Amino acid sequence: MKVGFVGAGKVGCSLGKHFCVNGIKLSGYFSQSMESAVDAADFTKSNYFSNLDSLIEESDVIFITVCDDAIATVWDNIKQLAIAGKLICHCSGSLSSKIFSGIENTEAYGFSVHPLLAVSDRYNSYQELPNALFTIEGERAHLPALKELLESTGLLVGEINPDEKTRYHGAAVFASNLVVSLMATAMDEFQKCGLSSELLQKALSALVLGNAKKVLSNGPEAALTGPIERNDVGTVINHINQLSGLNEDIYRTLSKKALEIGAKKHPNYDYCKLEEVLNT
Ligand SMILES: NC(=O)c1ccc[n+]([C@@H]2O[C@H](COP(=O)([O-])OP(=O)(O)OC[C@H]3O[C@@H](n4cnc5c(N)ncnc54)[C@H](OP(=O)(O)O)[C@@H]3O)[C@@H](O)[C@H]2O)c1
Repeated sequence: MKVGFVGAGKVGCSLGKHFCVNGIKLSGYFSQSMESAVDAADFTKSNYFSNLDSLIEESDVIFITVCDDAIATVWDNIKQLAIAGKLICHCSGSLSSKIFSGIENTEAYGFSVHPLLAVSDRYNSYQELPNALFTIEGERAHLPALKELLESTGLLVGEINPDEKTRYHGAAVFASNLVVSLMATAMDEFQKCGLSSELLQKALSALVLGNAKKVLSNGPEAALTGPIERNDVGTVINHINQLSGLNEDIYRTLSKKALEIGAKKHPNYDYCKLEEVLNT
């Protein structure tokens, strides 16, 4: 079984390299620019193709690893070709296999295969893929074969309902991109206190990584500490008085979520005053 890629970007290169080092045969790459396809082929010891037709002909499994907005256009070109029996996958987190319109008339099988990971680099991120969950969905009869292919390379695979992909992707944004936004907010405020960036980096490593470990091993209720959990209304009022603009909005909104967690943890606490402060 040979795997080919349309789109020689970060995910295409990373997944191709992962397959290659785990003994899966690659046909190679077709991409928008020849330069990207040549680089990816070199990196994965496979071939580059100057036209889509040859890549498709040489591949049994095709990963469409272009940006989300280009998937439908690439598919429109692929579905004109002889693709009977081939597995066609894209890697979008938010789109499902339903984007492969008309696939039932082609005798090919469509899937989405999403690595739940920030793939930031063409040439190094492949080393992190074995730590990621790959969520898959698509044509029922051939889903086990695709799962087996991925698992045979040591990947962790889970199935997802195609109708929940947008919600799933939104959840991933909370756990990844929005954590970056939250960290940036904390850094803004710490810097206003005059802490050097060197001290800040050390302080945040202990605070953030320790907290992340606790939430992941014990759950949000056990991990939550601080003024909201303790129902320290005065401290929260003082914080809000120091803040303004977007940082104040973020503080208020996330504190309401913390309050929800606190209320589950301490059903006997009366958080009414705190709730009122956060809402005014
Ligand atoms: N990066 C992540 O963290 C991540 C994580 C999970 C899933 N994904 C998903 O993986 C997919 C690819 O994302 P990415 O981050 O790898 O994007 P990327 O680094 O921007 O790579 C996309 C590649 O597709 C090529 N391309 C664009 N339009 C094309 C077309 N019409 N025909 C052929 N090639 C075309 C580009 O070409 P050239 O270089 O040749 O110009 C580029 O190399 C997306 O569906 C994304 O949602 C990304």
